[in-house]
Amino acid sequence: MRVFQNVQDIGPLGQALQEAFEIKKDRYKYQQLGKNRTALLIFFNNSLRTRLSTQKAALNLGMNVIVLDVNQGAWKLETERGVIMDGDKSEHLLEAIPVMGSYCDLIGVRSFATFANRKDDYEEKVLNQFIRYSGKPVFFMESATVHPLQSFADLITIEEYKKKARPKVVLTWAPHPKALPQAVPNSFAQWMNAADVDFVITHPEGYELDSVFAGNARVEYDQLKAFEGADFIYAKNWSCPGVTRPEAYGQVLSKDMSWTVDAAHMAVTDNAYFMHCLPVRRGMIVTDDVIESPQSLVIPEAANREISATVVLKRMLQAL
Ligand code: CP
Repeated sequence: MRVFQNVQDIGPLGQALQEAFEIKKDRYKYQQLGKNRTALLIFFNNSLRTRLSTQKAALNLGMNVIVLDVNQGAWKLETERGVIMDGDKSEHLLEAIPVMGSYCDLIGVRSFATFANRKDDYEEKVLNQFIRYSGKPVFFMESATVHPLQSFADLITIEEYKKKARPKVVLTWAPHPKALPQAVPNSFAQWMNAADVDFVITHPEGYELDSVFAGNARVEYDQLKAFEGADFIYAKNWSCPGVTRPEAYGQVLSKDMSWTVDAAHMAVTDNAYFMHCLPVRRGMIVTDDVIESPQSLVIPEAANREISATVVLKRMLQAL
């Protein structure tokens, strides 16, 4: 595997899950694989879970790890070609990327959507430059449009907790004070469409996800109707994806608090588990009682980030 971006990159999901559970039983099984290999983790944006779980995964595999927070201590990077660099940006990404590539064997990159331009975000302008110019395998640690390490961890969690062969999984939009990217819901939709689940997406009008990710998933605008009989509720806020409202790309269209996941919402489910990728805004996305209930999976879900990252890095090391 040279690039980990989409669900297709991991191959058959049954095999990937089998490897995940094997690693969960013995997370140091492949410690020799990463000997004298270095993972470079590059963050253009903040992180708690991705930073720690991916470092832990690399250590599980016996790798050395270097972490770079681009906005804290590195030179400010220019990403556009053809500009006269007479401002505050001291280095161009086109020099920085191959230099970074020269110090490592694998590169992970986190670079969120900027919302300046939908085309640039959806063409993955920054990550694609890493793929093209680093000369090293690249794994996405949340890009402008996807967060595959999260979705793989979500799938592992659903597989561990499901009580039916084909559970009903509902991705629900929930309110948030700020404009958030679509990376998590895009990836979650992509992975759920590939998994053997009954998948439903619910959100207010205007929040339709790009069909590249939503595929043929059922969209239900009535949130309570979507929740009926659900086995897993996956809550997340996202800003306008610009599909049905191109002029509103990246904007907050609604802060409707009736979409907050509370006990009344959960009551119409089939005793569903609650999931969220974290960090989560309590009182906006979900109420305290729901996230603190025995049905909340947010902690085991976050813990599975170590497992998904270990599988992905292992696959990349094996392909070197
Ligand atoms: N879920 C997730 O990616 O968390 P962080 O932003 O803290 O890495």
